[in-house]
Amino acid sequence: MSIQETDAKVILTHPDNQNTSVTILKYGATVYSWKMDGEEQLWLSTGALLDGSKPVRGGIPLVFPVFGKDETDPQLSKLPQHGLARNSTWEFLGQTKANPPTIQFGLNKSIANPEMTKLWPEEFNLILTIELGAEFLKTAIEVENPSSFSFLKFNWLFHTYLKIADIEDTMVSNLAGMKVHDKVLKETFIDKHPVIQFQGEHDVVYEKVDDDRVVQVVRHGKPVHTVKRENLQDVVVWNPWIEKSKGMGDFQPKSGYKEMVCVEPGHVSDFIDLAPGKVWKAAQILSKDALKYQAIQ
Ligand code: BG6
Repeated sequence: MSIQETDAKVILTHPDNQNTSVTILKYGATVYSWKMDGEEQLWLSTGALLDGSKPVRGGIPLVFPVFGKDETDPQLSKLPQHGLARNSTWEFLGQTKANPPTIQFGLNKSIANPEMTKLWPEEFNLILTIELGAEFLKTAIEVENPSSFSFLKFNWLFHTYLKIADIEDTMVSNLAGMKVHDKVLKETFIDKHPVIQFQGEHDVVYEKVDDDRVVQVVRHGKPVHTVKRENLQDVVVWNPWIEKSKGMGDFQPKSGYKEMVCVEPGHVSDFIDLAPGKVWKAAQILSKDALKYQAIQ
């Protein structure tokens, strides 16, 4: 059996390799483990709560309909940081393809967290498709606006926590020359650094990055992670470093910042305004594809 379902989670195993699997918590439809040939690819805090009492600290939490804490929109600003998708229990819709094994989860207003739909009363239909390749993991999202008269305004982001060996000798490449919003400095500027290196808290939104720029996490000249995007214009790169980790109760161990970097493909530097009856689609594909040198502006 390549799919195991319990009340709380779904485990999908690759038919050609029992050591390649993905585990998804129904709460948040959060992928919290992805093993490629036995090797875990995602970082998960040892203090992460998997009981549905708070969003998972690690894996791939889903951010919708707002990234961060909005302060401008009268409705979206009522929602907590990163919205309601990661705090809602999604419905497991079953398998849609045998190989690569593919499954879907759904969320809409009627089953989403009622505390939050009270604050943001929009109608929406989300379908998350998870495809487990022998050497990749694709997570794709469809957002449908079921209204016949009003627009749906939202952000989307895959908050992907990648597992790494050591942040101090890890680089993130192919984001040079982008307009960035640095959330630590609270400044917007063009980042001319040829690669991203980490010496402290890093919380930066790289804006309007062409999909054909493949973002790579590189260590000792080898790609540790390769992140491809479909219709996701922005990339957030986040590492909380020492002080910020201390302030997060569920971030464990406190030295865990050394072993993770978030590369978060999303549409967050502006809002998507989806017309009535329309569907918006996007995806991220994680792999270890060979290093690809790209022109630096
Ligand atoms: C990142 C944000 O996407 O998520 C950071 O850019 C934020 O500012 C981080 O601290 C974690 O957010 P949370 O709500 O999961 O603690």
